[in-house]
Parts: sequence; structure tokens; C-alpha cells
Amino acid sequence: MNKDPLRTKLCDMLGIEFPVIAFTHCKDVATSVINAGGFAVLGEAMHTPDEIAADVKWIRDRVNGKPFGIDLVLPASVPPSGSLDELMSNIPEPHRRFAREIKERYDVPDPKGAVDLHQWGGLNQELARAQLDVLLDERVPVIASGLGSPAFILDAAHERDILVFGLVGKARQAKRQLEAGVDAIIAQGYDAAGHTGAVGTFSIVAEVAAMARDTPIIAAGGVTTGRHLAASLCLGAAGVWTGTLWLACRESDVDMIIKERLLAATNEDTTYSRSISGMPMRVLSCPWTQEWAKPGAPEVLNAPYQMLLSSDYIQGANDNRRADLMTEAAGQGVGFVTTMKPAKQILYDLVEEALETFESIVGDS
Ligand SMILES: Cc1cc2nc3c(=O)[nH]c(=O)nc-3n(C[C@H](O)[C@H](O)[C@H](O)COP(=O)(O)O)c2cc1C
Repeated sequence: MNKDPLRTKLCDMLGIEFPVIAFTHCKDVATSVINAGGFAVLGEAMHTPDEIAADVKWIRDRVNGKPFGIDLVLPASVPPSGSLDELMSNIPEPHRRFAREIKERYDVPDPKGAVDLHQWGGLNQELARAQLDVLLDERVPVIASGLGSPAFILDAAHERDILVFGLVGKARQAKRQLEAGVDAIIAQGYDAAGHTGAVGTFSIVAEVAAMARDTPIIAAGGVTTGRHLAASLCLGAAGVWTGTLWLACRESDVDMIIKERLLAATNEDTTYSRSISGMPMRVLSCPWTQEWAKPGAPEVLNAPYQMLLSSDYIQGANDNRRADLMTEAAGQGVGFVTTMKPAKQILYDLVEEALETFESIVGDS
């Protein structure tokens, strides 16, 4: 091939070598990927403004001026304000009873400390705004919004030379964000880990890429091999945004119990469920998701109330390392994650396989 197919407009925009973005909650994973020539976006939706500022500094100290991103959730549908306790008091009794029954049936232990959710930006708009202000003050190179349109921060971000990426699951969300002027769109399909829409990756990426003109489109959902990377570029994407791929890598701080489950998992071990947060989410199947899927289970509550309800189970399982109860967001590409490699090796393998894929299609002349 005369031209390097992996040299895309996303590489030019971000000054990176490979068009691969790691979404991760682990700072060590983020810096490994960045220093190996990719890009990383750190998920900080659960953190206080002070923690976010400290993490931004931690990354800056280790990447020698290279750019990075921070991801928050900015859902417009959550209450404007309200403490955890106030929000908790709105949960109906039949739902509380159902959660108690699950707790008894599976002998779910209590969390060891207070529920972690106090700072989740998806809890209320006031919290999300405080998190966002830190990113603006710190002039982080890229702000990504995993839930909710980031259009309202575009002016403030661009004044500070910050790029804004929006993550979408529907073509009409992409259209609105493109019209608003976001700098890149992550078109995320049903295969993806975490909160995701119902349109498959193959369809959403091609559809959004067709409407995007010069704005880079980034494919997300199920990308776990170099063939997925090559296919994403063929669909019109300028890069890939990946989550599941990094969860079980060497540097990842994910619990070893979950890492082992991920390495053994096939795509049949993930489930698409609203039972954890009230919004559709792909996770490893667990007793909580299974019970809420049964006939006779109460109607799942809207965000953020279902998240408040599930937090006792999730945190009880995690704090006590109950392998039979624990879950984690995981995408349908999980079956290709089979060995625990350093993040740098994962990136290089992805790139090498993508190049081999292109060469096998078009030849190397
Ligand atoms: C453990 C985990 C947690 C996630 N949490 C968030 C989040 O807080 N915000 C967000 O924008 N995306 C989140 N995602 C989704 C990723 O941003 C990404 O879109 C998704 O992982 C892509 O699909 P893949 O896992 O198949 O690569 C999460 C993904 C994983 C694996």
C-alpha cells in the first residue's frame, strides 16, 4: 500500500500516531496508551472536582506534553440538584422490597463503606457542572461527554482551545451535535460496554460517517481486534474508541476476579439491561440483572433512581469481592480479550493486525 491507512484525520487532529482511543477509568492504562502512540480518555464521572484536578495533573506529569481527554456524563434528564439522601427518599417501596428480596436470596453482603455515588455526575446537574468547570479551568485537551449533548459547553471550551467530543447512539443525536459544532463524534453501537443505544455498531458508524463531512467520526462498540479497527475505517470512521479491550490488561486496576471473568467470557456472557442505572447498559450478566429481567419484576426506575437502588448490591458485591455477584460493563467483543497483556502490546497488536488486514485485501504494492 502506498498510503498508510491508519494515518487518519483523527491522528492529525490529536497529533497521535495511531487512530485508537482507549476509554478507561485507570490512569496507568491511559498513560501507557498515550505514551505508546494512541490516545486515552479517562472516565471521571464518579470523581469530585478536586480528584479530577489531581488526576489531570497526574497524567500531565507523565505524558510529556501529549494530549489526553477526560470523559464526564452530562445527562439533561436528571434532577437539577438534590443530595443522595433526598433522591433516595423518592424510591417507591415495592422497588425497595424487590431489592431487599434479591439481597436476601443471594446473601448479598452490605457495602463496607458509604455508597460511592455521592459525586456521580449523573446524579444531578449541579454535580456535573462542578466537574465540568474543573476541566475548563485546567484546559484539558479534550472533553468528552458519554451521556448527554456537550453542545452547551462548546463556546467555553473552544475559547480555551479545548476540543469537545460527543458520544452518540442515534443518528439524530449525531446530526444535532454536528450542527452545534462538536469537534468529533463517537458513534457507539449496541455491541458496546456500558450505556449504549440499540443500533448496531455496523449501522450507526456508517450512518453517522455519511452525514459528517469533515468532522472525524470515531467508531465504538465491540472493537477488540485489528480487523475491527480496519473495518471501522472502511465504514468511514477516522478511528476507534475502545473500552472492553483494556479492562483486563496488565496495568488495569480492575479487580482480578473481574479480569478473570472477562478473559473467560464470550459475547453470550454480556447482557443489555436497564436494571443497573435506569438507562440501557451492557454489562456482564449477574444475579441483579437476571432478577430484574424476570416476569413479575417491578418496572425499572428512571435515572438516577435505579442507580441509587442498585448501588447497595453493586458495592456490597465489589467491596466483599463476591465473584458470584460481581459485574462490570463489558462489550460484545469481550470474547477476543483472552490474555492479560500490557496496554502497549494491545495497541501494537491491534495496529499490526489492522495493517495485515488491509494488506490482505488490497495487497502491499
Ligand atoms: C467499565 C466501563 C465503564 C464505562 N463507563 C463509561 C462512562 O463512565 N462514560 C462513558 O462515556 N462511557 C463509558 N463506557 C463506555 C466506553 O466509553 C465505550 O464507549 C465502550 O466501552 C465501547 O465499547 P467496547 O467496550 O465494546 O469497546 C464504559 C465502558 C466500560 C468498559
